[in-house]
Amino acid sequence: IIRSVIAGCGSYLPQRVVTNEELAQKVDTTDAWIVERTGIRSRHIAADGETTADLATHAARAALAHAGIDAKDVDLIVLATATPDNTFPATASKVQARLGCLGSPAFDIQAVCSGFVYALTTADNFIKAGQAKCALVIGAETFSRILDWNDRGTCVLFGDGAGAVVLRAEEGEGANTDRGILSTHLHCDGTQHDLLYVDGGPSSTQTVGHLRMTGKEVFRHAVVNLAQVVQEAIEANGIEAHDIDWLVPHQANKRIIDGTARKLRMDPDRVVVTVDHHANTSAASIPLAFDEAVKDGRIRPGHLVLLEAMGGGFTWGSALVRM
Ligand code: ACO
Repeated sequence: IIRSVIAGCGSYLPQRVVTNEELAQKVDTTDAWIVERTGIRSRHIAADGETTADLATHAARAALAHAGIDAKDVDLIVLATATPDNTFPATASKVQARLGCLGSPAFDIQAVCSGFVYALTTADNFIKAGQAKCALVIGAETFSRILDWNDRGTCVLFGDGAGAVVLRAEEGEGANTDRGILSTHLHCDGTQHDLLYVDGGPSSTQTVGHLRMTGKEVFRHAVVNLAQVVQEAIEANGIEAHDIDWLVPHQANKRIIDGTARKLRMDPDRVVVTVDHHANTSAASIPLAFDEAVKDGRIRPGHLVLLEAMGGGFTWGSALVRM
């Protein structure tokens, strides 16, 4: 049996922190409204000229250092983003050039907020198929660039950042095979396009456009889809919710996270929450939260970790990992 083991993780946040109070000086909102509806208190925003590839490269280097793996040993880069530097080439190829691991495949995945789970699944399948031995999986976003800063209903919800994990192929019998990515579950329902999208693109308008969202409807779908995909992971592995040591959800909204944890009857202390200080960083939110919980010693070897996300598309997915 070949398993993809998480050998290390890393993350990067732009230096500039923007508080709710600061946003309240620009749009008609209050700290109290944002905290009550979303749990968000502040977010990081990329500096002028700082791009998704910059954030991704920092996170990738941190993950490689944590794993103790040299960049030249990476034989696959999968980068999840909805905010690439260019329409093409993929931001992953830019990161590859900077890391210097030339020649092996590198490409982007676009599944918005579910992007990291999609990218992790893709890399896991490359490894299980014997087509990669050491994969860098990155989630990186600069959503600040696609926000309508006059729309108080959306501009307060998002932030910029990047996170990465290094996956290593591990072949083994017995105890060894307990470790690594145990199962992944991906879904999409393309009929819900109009509830969450960016109103532009190279083929339609030749512009970049801005994020548009019907928040209440997205919320409703998120609660249902996340419960389904979490249940799917539980059933596929013959476990109970209480066997999960850590839930690392996509960080969109504290109320959605609490709702999912409540459905699972999970102790809130077993749920990693970063939405308060990162806001929603789309594909970067899971690896950012994961890295924080690994580095502060919450997630430890042997722990069972469930990742789950839902985003534009709609896309949604989960991954169960034994550390
Ligand atoms: N400050 C103050 N008032 C606001 C703000 C704001 N920033 N934004 C909206 N309002 C107002 C609205 O105008 C509305 O006023 P009205 O009643 O006078 O018309 C009122 O607040 C209520 O607005 P709703 O949109 O109904 O508020 P709701 O309780 O649904 O909260 C929110 C909005 C926070 C966006 C919520 O719907 C939500 O979190 N939805 C999920 C969105 C999400 O998580 N998306 C990302 C998931 S997928 C992905 O990550 C890509």
